[in-house]
Amino acid sequence: MMTPLLAGNWKMNCVRGEAIALAQAIADGSTDVVGREVLIAPSFTCLAAVSEVLADSNVLLAAQDLYWEDSGAFTGQISAAMIRDTGAGHVIIGHSERRALFGETEYTVAKKVQAAYAAGLTPILCVGETREQREAEKTMDVVERQLRGGLCEAAAECFDTLIVAYEPVWAIGTGLTATPEQAEHVHGHIRTVLATLADHGVEENIRILYGGSVKPDNIDSLMACPNVDGALVGGASLKAEDFLRIVHYQE
Ligand code: 13P
Repeated sequence: MMTPLLAGNWKMNCVRGEAIALAQAIADGSTDVVGREVLIAPSFTCLAAVSEVLADSNVLLAAQDLYWEDSGAFTGQISAAMIRDTGAGHVIIGHSERRALFGETEYTVAKKVQAAYAAGLTPILCVGETREQREAEKTMDVVERQLRGGLCEAAAECFDTLIVAYEPVWAIGTGLTATPEQAEHVHGHIRTVLATLADHGVEENIRILYGGSVKPDNIDSLMACPNVDGALVGGASLKAEDFLRIVHYQE
C-alpha cells in the first residue's frame, strides 16, 4: 500500500511571520497523523524559517520551483543545492501557472526534474489540461505529452521516488473540481503511461496526487478513488483548519 500524501502549495502567499504561524499550526495539527504524509511548499524566502518550525514535526517541506544549473550568473534563480540547504526534500516542477505565465516548457521541465534528482530532491511533477483541451478531448494526449516530455531524461531509479500531480488547469483556483470519476479516469491513464517509462511494476508505487479546488468537502470522495494517492492543495492549504481537515480526510 502506498502512503497517501497531502500537500499544500502556498504559491505566492505569506510573508515570513505568517508562514511561520501557518506552518506551526499545521505541524501541531499533524502530530497524530499516521499512515499518511503531510507536506507544505512555502515561497523560497520562507523555506529556511519554515524548515526550523518543522524540524521536530512529521511535516515535509518542498520548494515550488528550481533552476537546473548548479551555480553561476543566473540572476534571480534558485538552485537545487540552495533548496536542499534550507532543509527541503521535495520540489514542485512544471506547475501549470509556471507553464502558462512563465514560459515553462517540456524542455525546461525535463531539465528541472533531472536537476532535482541529481541533488537528491524528490520532484512533484505537475501535469494537466486546459478547459479548451478538455473540450477538444485532448486531455489524455496532453497529459501523456507532459509526462513523456518531463521525464525524458529521468533514469530508471528516479521512478522509485517520483510523485506526479494531475492538476486540470480549469479546476485550479476556480472552485470547479474534477469529479472523482474524471480524476480517476486521468489518473489511471497517467499510471498506464508511467508503466511504459518505468521498470516493470514500479508505476504501481508512484503516487499520483489530484490538485484543483481540493476542499474539506470534496477530499473524502476524491481520496476514495483507487488511483488518487493524495492531493496537491492550493487555496485551502492557506487556512490551517481547512488544510488539517484535508489531512484528516475520511476520519
Ligand atoms: P487550488 O487548490 O487553489 O485550486 O490550487 C491547486 C493548485 O494549483 C495546487 O498546486
